[in-house]
Amino acid sequence: MAANPAVAIDGPAGAGKSTLARLLAEKLGFVYVNTGAMYRAVALLWKERGGDPVEIARNLEFDMKGDRILVEGRDVTDKLYTPEISELSSKISTDPRVREALVALQRSMRERYPVVMEGRDIGTVVLPDAEVKFFVTASALERARRRKAQFSDPRPLEEIREEIERRDRRDSSRRASPLRRAPDALVVDTTGMGIEETLEVLLRFVKDRLKAYNRKNQKRR
Ligand code: DC
Repeated sequence: MAANPAVAIDGPAGAGKSTLARLLAEKLGFVYVNTGAMYRAVALLWKERGGDPVEIARNLEFDMKGDRILVEGRDVTDKLYTPEISELSSKISTDPRVREALVALQRSMRERYPVVMEGRDIGTVVLPDAEVKFFVTASALERARRRKAQFSDPRPLEEIREEIERRDRRDSSRRASPLRRAPDALVVDTTGMGIEETLEVLLRFVKDRLKAYNRKNQKRR
């Protein structure tokens, strides 16, 4: 029986999940868990040290302080969001043994804290019993525009869009935990929507659901 409430946010790259998840966690007083950053951290250590990505995943010391990502106590945030690490992390995330190790780490976080957890398979695989599930998406062109602005990516927009579509295809078609919407997830299309506006929609929905969760738990006591 899960002790802590959880909000699961899934969706493709660049749909606005990270910003929304972080702000939502702040508003709710929950811990924000960025699972994509874990796959990226494994990719970075693998690039730096070589060896077996499965072993790296099993021994990963991962922490977050606000929007900074710490690996073995080292702030690696600026190294994680390069095109090279995007590709590498997408590749290693197809290995079921890497996934198994990181899923265990993700579940242990929910055992310790109320969480807003963001990724590709949170509502379907990691926390299928999450109290609230969102599937956040946006058109590929809009997502490419946001990535370009967010990371000051100098490449032409078209090239970024193609890369996003390639990653979408890989993330959705891989055998181990493909990106797909949980049947009970609320779909939020953020194309043309601002962050504040979207956050309001999510927050209203979460608060309603958590009221029901709190009522149920009070009855149990
Ligand atoms: O969300 P992101 O772009 O930082 O994720 C990096 C890669 O990790 C992405 O290619 C998909 C993969 N990923 C995954 O397979 N499962 C998750 N729960 C989160 C990310």
